Amino acid sequence: MTTPAKSTFFSGLQQNLDQLREQGLYKPERVLASRQGAEVMSEDGRMLINMCANNYLGLSGQEWVAQASIAATEKYGYGLSSVRFICGTQTVHKQLEQAISKFLGTEDTILYAAAFDANGGVFEPLFDENDAIISDALNHASIIDGIRLCKAARFRYAHNDMADLETQLLAAAGKRHKVIVTDGVFSMDGTIAQLDKICDLADKYGALVMIDECHASGFMGKTGRGTHEHHNVMGRIDIITGTLGKALGGAMGGFTSARKEVIDMLRQKSRPYLFSNTLAPSIAGASLAVLQKLSESTELRDRLHENTAFFRKEIERIGFTIKPGTHPVVPVMLFDAPVAQKFAARMYELGVLLSGFFYPVVPMGQARVRVQLSAAHSREQLETVLKAFEQAGRELGLLKN
Ligand SMILES: Cc1ncc(COP(=O)(O)O)c(C=O)c1O
Repeated sequence: MTTPAKSTFFSGLQQNLDQLREQGLYKPERVLASRQGAEVMSEDGRMLINMCANNYLGLSGQEWVAQASIAATEKYGYGLSSVRFICGTQTVHKQLEQAISKFLGTEDTILYAAAFDANGGVFEPLFDENDAIISDALNHASIIDGIRLCKAARFRYAHNDMADLETQLLAAAGKRHKVIVTDGVFSMDGTIAQLDKICDLADKYGALVMIDECHASGFMGKTGRGTHEHHNVMGRIDIITGTLGKALGGAMGGFTSARKEVIDMLRQKSRPYLFSNTLAPSIAGASLAVLQKLSESTELRDRLHENTAFFRKEIERIGFTIKPGTHPVVPVMLFDAPVAQKFAARMYELGVLLSGFFYPVVPMGQARVRVQLSAAHSREQLETVLKAFEQAGRELGLLKN
């Protein structure tokens, strides 16, 4: 029954939704009718080259990954109907935890349903009001939420600013334990955290270091171990969180990896682990197969970096401005929000799937389309995409050349 109180509630929601639409902030869902991949089919049957997935190693739609998940389902069933500690841990979950630890160079790992949960459940069991969390201003929303759930004192340093990090470490001097927290790679700009400098500062001020490797695990560093390998600080990072939902297969699932005592405590006290269902065995089995493959060869990681270098060079040659760097996230700067929207729409017409980002997701005046390279992109596909960029850029008068 719709009472007046309920009707005010629902009409209030509708007004807020209408407002989001008027402000251009409403987020529609793009519906795909195919597997995820370098090329995808849209709902209306159009084939598009996909330049906006976190499918860095191109594994999401791969048949061998799907087959590994089917094999795990055949062996372990569809699901556990349980949290881990009651009757929801199978051998495949333990094997995956060991494989992640080995891959990252840590002692132990705990699985979650998502990296959002890993970040949400990592702080509160480990730190309290006697401690300090020192966090990069642009850290992912799940880190921010996780910190909110913890009683530790909060210090925020300006994004990627080592001088300010040192200022905040000094401000936190009286605290029992201090932990510096940063995304290994920041997904909006492809900025790689300066982990070498962060570890030096951590040593100087007696702090721990935690990194979120969602945009790094599987492809950053010489053998794809992550940002800690990239910066040659493996063994100096205390806590690593990451996702199975991007480069490492793309389904879902997250983890925290660290020393045994840390993981043991998370198994006792981390709420998203204690009060949420076990990761499906199909995902655990497929993730294991992925880690096995990545441990055998760097071929996919190498191809991704070749694609990235090629795209970064060519897009600048055409006359676009990008944020400099080496990461497969390539922000193509268009600065103006309506232009970014118009550009993404034109690229869609030209057969390229891209997403535009503008305020408040990125700072005012920094609107952009974010390109994400994948090992699955062929050179031919990238050349087609670059031609479309050139055409749309010329039509909209955006090229510097
Ligand atoms: C930096 C970062 N951390 C955490 C997450 C959450 O990952 P998941 O999708 O596994 O919850 C994401 C995903 O967007 C991310 O980009």
